[in-house]
Amino acid sequence: MNKLLSALENVKQQLTVPPSGILTIAQTFQQEMIDGLTGKPSSLKMLPSYLTIPSGKETGKFLALDFGGTNVRVLLAELQGDGHFTIHAHHSRPLKDPQGKYNYISGKSTATDLFDFIARQIAEIASPDIFYPLGHTFSFPSRQTNANNAIALEWSKEIATQGVVGQDVNDLLTAALKRQGIFNVVPQVVLNDTVGTLLTAAYNDPCADIGCIVGTGHNTAYLEPSAPWTNAQMIINIESGNFAKLPSSVYDNTLDKITEKPNTQRLEKMCSGRYLGELVRLIAYDLIGSGLLAQQADARRILSKPDVLSAADVAMFIADNTPELTGIADWLKDHLQFGSSTHQDKVVLQTVASLVSLRSARLVAATFLGILRHIDPNLECCHTIGVDGSLYEKMPGYAENLSQTLQEPLQDKARLVKVLLAKDGSGIGAAVAVAITQNK
Ligand code: BGC
Repeated sequence: MNKLLSALENVKQQLTVPPSGILTIAQTFQQEMIDGLTGKPSSLKMLPSYLTIPSGKETGKFLALDFGGTNVRVLLAELQGDGHFTIHAHHSRPLKDPQGKYNYISGKSTATDLFDFIARQIAEIASPDIFYPLGHTFSFPSRQTNANNAIALEWSKEIATQGVVGQDVNDLLTAALKRQGIFNVVPQVVLNDTVGTLLTAAYNDPCADIGCIVGTGHNTAYLEPSAPWTNAQMIINIESGNFAKLPSSVYDNTLDKITEKPNTQRLEKMCSGRYLGELVRLIAYDLIGSGLLAQQADARRILSKPDVLSAADVAMFIADNTPELTGIADWLKDHLQFGSSTHQDKVVLQTVASLVSLRSARLVAATFLGILRHIDPNLECCHTIGVDGSLYEKMPGYAENLSQTLQEPLQDKARLVKVLLAKDGSGIGAAVAVAITQNK
């Protein structure tokens, strides 16, 4: 075997999660959930949402704000009951302008800059003479004491805007709406995007009890049968992206060190779209030492810098099924100024991309197993897991890899567990949340 292929073999070993590893991760995850719920030290925050599952009969017209980290989206959604809804209007803007004109998520921006921008996006959809109750999806760890307040605990996904952590994000939004002269839009609920995804799935599926995002970030929420704060059913935001008790490769450790917040969000940095491209880049950079893209100083220099490779590039590498892997060859030419790649170079890059994506899907599935064991130890009931996010929706083979990983250990009980795309879950879920709290 040549040097490059044996180096690739080593990468494969580091990134493979065997069936026994899946079971161990599931077990540890379940224990961390219990520890988090009972106030013991745990990498899982287990945050209360003060929301429970909808009946599916909720109706009404609501504004939904979805602030996830890449874009801010505003929806005008109408719930029609019987699990049906219509989106009447939709507006989305990136939080960081691709042309560099503004960036509301860097450490140079303030909470006022960010929330004024968000309020202006709301004004794009809200007519000035109509009253709108608004559901606010805030997709970061936050501590709630009821469904309408949320103190931001910390940023994730490399966001660094000043003055948000420690504040109530609905207060920040309300103040910004006032500054922008918008008095007819009133935030009534604040929720995590995973909670919204679960609400969306549950709006038309009574078996839904787990909601997950695998997009820029990663996290899962579930319906806890007896939450410690109320001794009743409540959706809990696990903040599973921070799960830390799992084996990591040297590449994960290198990546962690160059992130905004090392030693946090370890699972998210192995699974989510914000980081998958970075992992492939770091592995490719390492393989250059074993002969990948041989002798190309430019390619080496470019690959040494963060963010040259995105999750969309990883998806393209995997999807390239042309005999000569021309998509990958073009990418190398356009991004690394490397016009003379060999077939082996391209196959190695495609293999690394597939390994990184497969590991992400398997790790996420392992956490689902941990949650299922916690809520239904003998697996007697049906469970629908609603998943939203660009990676789950668009990464070739991702959804299949996730389902297959779940099926292996569940065997004949696998028929009780469904994993579905809950498209726009975080947006629609905010409308469902407002409707639930209004009908109380
Ligand atoms: C955040 C979670 C969020 C997830 C998906 C993570 O970085 O901590 O709150 O649910 O991203 O958007």
